[in-house]
Amino acid sequence: MEYITLANGINMPLEGFGVFLVPDPAACKQAVLDAIKAGYRLIDTAAIYGNERAVGEAVKEAVDAGLVKREDLFITTKLWVADFSYEGAKKAFAASMERLGLEYLDLYLLHQAYGDIYGAWRAMEELYEAGKIRSIGVSNFFPWKLTEFAELVKVKPMVNQVELHPFFTQYGAIETMKTYGCVPQAWGPLAEGKHGIFTHPVLSEIGAKYGKTAAQIALKWNVQRGVCILPKSVHADQIAQNFDIWDFNMTDEEMRQIDALDLGHSEIIDHYDPNIVKFILGSKVSD
Ligand SMILES: NC(=O)c1ccc[n+]([C@@H]2O[C@H](COP(=O)([O-])OP(=O)(O)OC[C@H]3O[C@@H](n4cnc5c(N)ncnc54)[C@H](OP(=O)(O)O)[C@@H]3O)[C@@H](O)[C@H]2O)c1
Repeated sequence: MEYITLANGINMPLEGFGVFLVPDPAACKQAVLDAIKAGYRLIDTAAIYGNERAVGEAVKEAVDAGLVKREDLFITTKLWVADFSYEGAKKAFAASMERLGLEYLDLYLLHQAYGDIYGAWRAMEELYEAGKIRSIGVSNFFPWKLTEFAELVKVKPMVNQVELHPFFTQYGAIETMKTYGCVPQAWGPLAEGKHGIFTHPVLSEIGAKYGKTAAQIALKWNVQRGVCILPKSVHADQIAQNFDIWDFNMTDEEMRQIDALDLGHSEIIDHYDPNIVKFILGSKVSD
């Protein structure tokens, strides 16, 4: 596995493990333990996922058992929109840390680009400067919003976690991120299973050459273009398979074949849809 250096000099694993839609505490804890055993060192959760406690329990168990040292893990969580204000962010951060059972956090993200992002960010900047958080970033910030934000804030976001997979390549958005030294991180790197990704003929054919699955090819394509990935699975065999991508490299021509699958838009979520905006603004974190 490889690492990427963030704008402040800290190293972040290029591959991490995501736990979106794993609400059952036992299943989440087991999946995180399976991921750490398979070699993952970055775990990506969020206050709104409702599983920070289970992630924290798995981290504690893995560290106590000597599987890994805390300093070798990179834990990310995200501040939810309902808590976007200076005071709200301070309180929500304390609540996340209590649920995770951690002394410090590796990466804290503004989960969405709506609401009082500036008030929340001032609190995050303070927590970062106080050493409670090692890096801060954003998620779902489209190019115009990232530009506005990065031009106006004191500490520029070090990571932007957005939807990135072979059917939504977002090369333009990645260029904007690079302008600000912001590292692209892919959510939904397996397109959440859409577009027949696991049996896609282009991905499967390239995979056959390297003895890899279509899923592994999709993941490696993002890594090979410098994008961090956060695949999610609750099956130990798939968790291990998704991490087994570090022993081959595709040719430029194969990379171009995968680039050509781009549809130019998301078929998972439309952040411009007023109903989605209202839904996100109305959702609350439960303890
Ligand atoms: N910032 C944001 O707004 C945002 C939004 C979405 C996600 N995320 C983060 O990104 C992470 C990943 O995204 P995601 O969970 O939405 O989707 P994903 O990782 O693209 O896809 C997950 C789906 O693929 C299946 N799968 C995984 N590996 C497989 C394999 N090797 N073969 C066949 N099926 C496989 C999983 O099934 P099983 O679980 O049954 O194995 C699950 O249904 C999340 O967990 C979360 O941490 C962030």
